[in-house]
Amino acid sequence: MGETIAIMNQKGGCGKTTTAVNLSASLAIMGKSVLIVDMDPQANLTTSFGINKLKLENTVYSAISGEISVKKAIIPVKDNNKLNNNLFILPSNNSLSGLEIELSKLPKYHMVLKGLLSSVKNLFDYIFIDLPPSLGIITINGLVASDSVIIPIQSEYYALEGVADLINTINLVEERLKSPSPIKGIVLTLYDSRTRLGREVYSELKKYFGNKEYIFKTVIPRNIKLAEAPSYGKPGIIYDEDSIGTKSYLKLAEEFLRLKSK
Ligand SMILES: Nc1ncnc2c1ncn2[C@@H]1O[C@H](COP(=O)(O)OP(=O)(O)OP(=O)(O)O)[C@@H](O)[C@H]1O
Ligand SMILES: [Mg+2]
Repeated sequence: MGETIAIMNQKGGCGKTTTAVNLSASLAIMGKSVLIVDMDPQANLTTSFGINKLKLENTVYSAISGEISVKKAIIPVKDNNKLNNNLFILPSNNSLSGLEIELSKLPKYHMVLKGLLSSVKNLFDYIFIDLPPSLGIITINGLVASDSVIIPIQSEYYALEGVADLINTINLVEERLKSPSPIKGIVLTLYDSRTRLGREVYSELKKYFGNKEYIFKTVIPRNIKLAEAPSYGKPGIIYDEDSIGTKSYLKLAEEFLRLKSK
């Protein structure tokens, strides 16, 4: 049975999509079969694999609305041969932007994504869900559909702002919807080791989460190759195999594999 993990933080631009892309691609290289689900109407994850979202017919939205089966919407990523043919995507486009309102009319609005993924869960070792920067109905669906959560946190002055709301949402979903999604790990992104700020944010994280939550020892540095890769339609780890960004995501994947499933 596959493990489903939501990549979540309502803060924009903290590296959710970059982490979803490169952690999945790293695991694929290491021999795991992985599906990534783009649940963001911005569809950055979809476009970063070189998929033209404007031409896309079969999306996670068409699967949710029942037009097609979920299996029909899942496609292998480009250059999948470099990833041992292990990486698949359930893509999105901005049709997803109407989903929150549509779902809000359903009595079991929070169960929709979980229901959709249940038929493919056993086909993959891991399913990652890339969530949008909000704590709305899509994120709640992502939490209900997943076994655990990875939280990327950007190394910046206001790094911990909003984290309390995020934890609160996870707790509410557990209490009210009886759907626990424990935190699998917190990963520091866009890290600059040359500045004192980077080191300070890491120790702030430790202070804040104490021994309660797992903080990945691997931090993801700010690395231009990771930022350039999406415009070439490739994961950073394929775009430049030797970059420090690539090495960090491969290390993160190794650390991820050492964790027990939650
Ligand atoms: N480690 C990194 N080094 C350099 N650039 C990065 C790194 N991680 C992410 N970026 C860049 O920062 C921007 C935001 O990253 P990303 O899209 O992964 O964040 P996000 O949390 O998914 O954003 P959103 O909340 O909008 O979905 C992107 O342009 C991305 O290429
Ligand atoms: Mg994103």
